[in-house]
Amino acid sequence: MNRPADTLRFALAEVAGEIDRAMDRLLPVPPDPRDRLYEAMRYAAIGGGKRIRPLLVIAGCDLFNVDRARAVRVAVAVECIHVYSLIHDDLPCMDDDDLRRGKPTLHRAYDECTAILAGDSLHALAFEVLADEATHEDPFVRTELVLELARAAGPAGMAGGQMIDLVADGLALDLAAVTRLQQLKTGALIGWCLEAAAIMGRVPPEGRTGLRGYARDLGLAFQIADDLLDHEGCEEKAGKRVGKDQEAGKETFVSLLGADRARQQAQALVTQAIDHLRSFGDEADLLRAVARFAVERDH
Ligand code: IPE
Ligand code: IPE
Ligand code: MG
Ligand code: MG
Ligand code: MG
Repeated sequence: MNRPADTLRFALAEVAGEIDRAMDRLLPVPPDPRDRLYEAMRYAAIGGGKRIRPLLVIAGCDLFNVDRARAVRVAVAVECIHVYSLIHDDLPCMDDDDLRRGKPTLHRAYDECTAILAGDSLHALAFEVLADEATHEDPFVRTELVLELARAAGPAGMAGGQMIDLVADGLALDLAAVTRLQQLKTGALIGWCLEAAAIMGRVPPEGRTGLRGYARDLGLAFQIADDLLDHEGCEEKAGKRVGKDQEAGKETFVSLLGADRARQQAQALVTQAIDHLRSFGDEADLLRAVARFAVERDH
């Protein structure tokens, strides 16, 4: 029996259940014309996805013995941002995709206006959850969570990365430019997961270096794995259409290095990510397992 893999599978399933239940509580469908918006948010946010970002938050919070219910709130916040980003990423004006998490994309199942509003609303919900006293009694902790998430999701983070990704179609980016794109598009939000854990654990900035290094390497490895999936993965397993990056003329690690060297690069980054956790003992084993899964996954 492969114990770290079993532990990881169990942890992912547990976190998925916690996120689903929390989203269900946060999104009761009102008996008025907004029901369509709530239904759409539920369609996108409940019952799907790997929930890697929530697991990173929770595994990170475990290092500092953060109360589980509070950690789940922080985990829900990052998943709200992530799901919003996927909804908008799939829109016809962006990647124009029909399949997400094994089912029709939100604008296909509903319509574009509803998808835009559901994305907007999940974005807002993330900050509402973090700013609530139930997340942490100390307003300074809540403010830091909000500030760092705003930075990670905005033009200096994820949205900025999406902008570069869109304008770069057909442009010949080099490795340094692709690395920067991916660090913003995917890395910034993954970075926030570990930063948030350190904030909740009241770890002073000088104590966060290892976790930041881990997150930086993991974020890049995770996006290289996503590009490899797009290049050679299977639509059924991935739950989304594959082969799109090449079709759109997107420069990725795979287009620049070839699949084999891209895979080696991702694996080297995972080794490096795990090495950043050397000051932690067994309590960081789940984070180590997440890093390995990030590149070994087929979905
Ligand atoms: C897909 O993210 C988009 C990227 C930023 C690479 P995930 O691979 O985490 O998607 P889900 O949440 O499992 O659907
Ligand atoms: C999406 O990247 C990243 C964000 C949503 C921020 P991709 O466009 O590569 O993600 P997939 O492949 O559609 O999941
Ligand atoms: Mg995209
Ligand atoms: Mg896409
Ligand atoms: Mg992709």
